[in-house]
Amino acid sequence: MDVAAVDSILTKYPETKGNLISILHEVQNRFRYLPEEELRYISKKTGVPITQIYSIANFYNRFTLEPRGKNRVCVCLGTACHVKGAERIMNEMERVLGINTGESTDDLSFSLEEVRCIGACSLAPAVVINEDTHSKVTPKQIGQLLKKYQQTSSPKA
Ligand code: FES
Repeated sequence: MDVAAVDSILTKYPETKGNLISILHEVQNRFRYLPEEELRYISKKTGVPITQIYSIANFYNRFTLEPRGKNRVCVCLGTACHVKGAERIMNEMERVLGINTGESTDDLSFSLEEVRCIGACSLAPAVVINEDTHSKVTPKQIGQLLKKYQQTSSPKA
């Protein structure tokens, strides 16, 4: 567990209770998920019951208690994307990555999620990888697309 990292986050928020969401947000940014040990440490350090921390972590779907891949792949399965073949995009993502929706690859390079409309319906079918929106994606492009992210993330890993 990274005590120094959590301590440095906690020192930014002297008033813990009103800032719990911000604290969890920073912890997740740092570790890419909310590790149990870190959450228990925050509870001990701040006096906020662990059950309260978990109820916040479970309530907001932006938080995850499972390790996420370095690259977060979100396939839009909203109506416009569905009509334009998003299901095939998702199937190909699962095939190429060798995981199901909601899972991460063993090497934690990628995690795969579905989202419902990212507000880019005219670009359907749309895929968001990290901060990048990819429009009018075809199943054929997926291998190449993922390779690009694999390459940009691996040298620094
Ligand atoms: S339905 Fe996919 S961007 Fe709107």
